[in-house]
Amino acid sequence: MLEQYKDRDYGTPARENLAGISLTIDGREVTVPAGTSLMRAAIESGSNVPKLCATDSLEPFGSCRLCLVEIEGRKGYPASCTTPAEAGMVVRTQSPKLQQLRKGVMELYISDHPLDCLTCAANGDCELQDMAGVTGLREVRYGGDGANHLNLGKDESNPYFSYDPSKCIVCNRCVRACEETQGTFALTISGRGFASRVSPGQDQPFMESECVSCGACVQACPTATLQEKSVIHSGQPEHSVLTTCAYCGVGCAFKAEMKGNEVVRMVPHKDGAANHGHSCIKGRFAWGYATHKDRITKPMIRASISEPWREVSWNEAIGYAASEFKRIQQKYGRDAVGGISSSRCTNEEVYLVQKLVRAAFGTNNVDTCARVCHSPTGYGLGQTYGTSAGTQTFDSVTKMDVALVIGANPTAAHPVFASRLKRRLREGAKLIVIDPRRVELVKSPHIKADYHLQLRPGTNVAVLTALAHVIVTEDLVQETYVAERCDEKAYREWKAFVARPENSPEATEADSGVPAALVRGAARLYATGGNAAIYYGLGVTEHSQGSTAVMAIANLAMATGNVGRKGVGVNPLRGQNNVQGSCDMGSFPHELPGYRHISDSTVRGEFEAAWGVTLSPEPGLRIPNMFDAALAGSFKGLYCQGEDIVQSDPDTQHVARALAAMECIVVQDLFLNETAKYAHVFLPGSSFLEKDGTFTNAERRISRVRKVMPPKAGKADWEATIALSNALGYPMDYRHPSEIMAEIARLTPSFAGVSYDKLDRMGSLQWPCNDAAPAGTPLMHVDRFVRGKGRFIITKYVPTDEKVTRRLPLLLTTGRVLSQYNVGAQTRRTENVHWHDEDRLEVHPHDAEDRGIRDGDWVGVQSRAGETVLRACVTERVQPGVVYTTFHFPESGANVITTDSSDWATNCPEYKVTAVQVMPVTQPSEWQKKWTRFSKVQADLLENRQPGPAIALSK
Ligand code: SF4
Ligand code: SF4
Ligand code: SF4
Ligand code: FES
Repeated sequence: MLEQYKDRDYGTPARENLAGISLTIDGREVTVPAGTSLMRAAIESGSNVPKLCATDSLEPFGSCRLCLVEIEGRKGYPASCTTPAEAGMVVRTQSPKLQQLRKGVMELYISDHPLDCLTCAANGDCELQDMAGVTGLREVRYGGDGANHLNLGKDESNPYFSYDPSKCIVCNRCVRACEETQGTFALTISGRGFASRVSPGQDQPFMESECVSCGACVQACPTATLQEKSVIHSGQPEHSVLTTCAYCGVGCAFKAEMKGNEVVRMVPHKDGAANHGHSCIKGRFAWGYATHKDRITKPMIRASISEPWREVSWNEAIGYAASEFKRIQQKYGRDAVGGISSSRCTNEEVYLVQKLVRAAFGTNNVDTCARVCHSPTGYGLGQTYGTSAGTQTFDSVTKMDVALVIGANPTAAHPVFASRLKRRLREGAKLIVIDPRRVELVKSPHIKADYHLQLRPGTNVAVLTALAHVIVTEDLVQETYVAERCDEKAYREWKAFVARPENSPEATEADSGVPAALVRGAARLYATGGNAAIYYGLGVTEHSQGSTAVMAIANLAMATGNVGRKGVGVNPLRGQNNVQGSCDMGSFPHELPGYRHISDSTVRGEFEAAWGVTLSPEPGLRIPNMFDAALAGSFKGLYCQGEDIVQSDPDTQHVARALAAMECIVVQDLFLNETAKYAHVFLPGSSFLEKDGTFTNAERRISRVRKVMPPKAGKADWEATIALSNALGYPMDYRHPSEIMAEIARLTPSFAGVSYDKLDRMGSLQWPCNDAAPAGTPLMHVDRFVRGKGRFIITKYVPTDEKVTRRLPLLLTTGRVLSQYNVGAQTRRTENVHWHDEDRLEVHPHDAEDRGIRDGDWVGVQSRAGETVLRACVTERVQPGVVYTTFHFPESGANVITTDSSDWATNCPEYKVTAVQVMPVTQPSEWQKKWTRFSKVQADLLENRQPGPAIALSK
């Protein structure tokens, strides 16, 4: 295995301790933090200590006895991994006696191990093999003919890794990785002595156990016992490239381990600041979509959506798109076109899309998919704190004493953060969960929420304001903090407002369904439990009062003094990988990069000077306004990069009608997604493996995305946008995304200090990064809020219009599962479908019984927007009166049911509350029948596309 991608393993975790211990190891004076193991001290000082059961991501276990050392003045040979360094110790890691003992240990291991190194998938990447070499083992005296484990059968049930117990050395690393790193506790060592072996669940195959396929055990395994199937299939990698996961907003760093242009495996990077070497199933295993046969790698055009596609050259496709946009603008006016940028694309690509719309189209009709998820975060935190982003690092969770998790399901949507949160909870931190569903965090192995406020969907503001009521009326406000840091008048008004009796837990109980005593208990815990941190997700923002709820959260944190230091803060958990970045890059119609309003003539002037155009001071259309304008006949052309608005936006039928009313839709994507079925120009997109750029995660952390293979269609997404802009007559000339970032840095104060060179040097940077903070800003609002004084805002609870009625008596809320991602375009094209191959409707047993629904039955779900049919999952995860589904499969039509209700401030759709009726049915809904017919027609038109010229792949 090449050294370039072998991380140094120090054997045991680093200790944070200011006190230093000095000792002598192999004749060298060494100083380490108190609590450091002898093994780590020795390896840090340059000694090589053999080891098998120790690895520095896990606490030491002391089972293999290979790491024995000699300590002067002490008898015996203690294991260095479990022996703490002590002041004045004199330690030897190498001696003839130690060599002899280690060789003996290795001989026993190897005597019960298959001797198939040359054909083993781990050959060259096996610690057992390495240790045999290190200890000088040349022959084994004990034959394999006695009792052994060599014929134990393999477990191949997991599609991504295999388990071959004949190679297991029972080092326990996998068990500890599952417990300590992942927090799932799926593995145990069953049996005793010679019969002991690793077993998932109740001695089940992996796929039938609680295993969530994070792969931490595979990574920890020192042998080929747990081995990625991709390595078994492709052999050991030859080189590696550091990059960033393209799935969720955690932003895990990975080493893409490669053989030529083929990814062999993705290994979470130990130095990744967001993930510290851990990952989830999506980032580690679900990358096969990038080479899936459904990828469209040639540009295509057609005059109408009833015609077959025609494959054309990039030049022709771009030229056709540009001429159509120009024709539309001439005929219907400049504002008849617009663009949508993607939170899955890089910062540089998003920046170029908004620049193209503003400078080449000459309109501000640009919006981003963040509109439908976290736009209320931008608004709410901007109003209260002065900046539209989370306040902390993920690392901050290690200093947290109380976590308040509201409207978020981190174990499904932000799994690596969830693992870190669970670890802190196991260490004794307290947990408040506010969620209509009994999400996994409420109760899982070794975790139990202290409070679960199981509110009715749509009542977040009532509950958050009731929490504030308790804090104010029970004198739990941190008055000194508030007096120093917050606007006094706004605080007084807010205090008087929340103290009103109608905001008490007792008064809001009827609406929210949460017993007042629980709200009071949770408020006291949050206000007095030490460092309290709020983590929230789309269950907060995707409501008619999404922005109000974000402000209510910000109020709570200010009132209790929980902003501005480690362990506290307000942390929006962003859904997609680059939601933060797409917002930062100015893709909202009213904001230029860096959240500066388009009406600000000074800011506009800077961009006008740099771009050489005159910009309109008027905000453009938001996505829902674009749809309305299309139906009204005034919006006719759309450039949509990397988003599937037909599947992801609410009220699918409304969106589809709007698209059908347009004259030119240009879709840039990896696959012919639902939106592309309405498109006239298809520009093949590039996966994150095929381009350079940056993503910004939920901690404001900017990380590099690096190209590991050439773009399959010959152009990366940023290159296609440049070509379109040039064809429109607005020249863009960037030879590399680093030049785009240089322009972003020149024009955006919070990015002024960001460059690719610095990112390469430092690994990642958290904005603001500028002269005042050249190394970035891990913690926001440390001494003062960005806006100066923090501003309390009154958060009056206004019940949603989406009410249950006799006809629609249940409330539908939506969410995600661990194995699928967003509209599923990527994860549906991986083996992840083994975990989730359809969206189901969760129904409480009472509601199911009332309607004669059994688990697995087909049920019709009807709202005022439409009807769809799903299979029922009868479960107590949901409360009576509430049903739940996911939106990962287009045929489920989850967004056929969601309505056009939206957040009052930002138009973020109210996905989380839809009044529905649910009834057993025997056939698909009318919409589903229509969708099936339309999809078949579109699949045929794609299948029968007229072939075009070959595309030259760039190097
Ligand atoms: S893959 Fe993850 S969850 Fe499954 S057993 Fe291994 S560590 Fe545990
Ligand atoms: S499966 Fe691997 S990590 Fe687990 S006990 Fe066996 S050798 Fe160790
Ligand atoms: S937690 Fe998110 S960023 Fe990390 S590997 Fe999973 S999907 Fe990727
Ligand atoms: S490495 Fe120390 S006992 Fe195994």
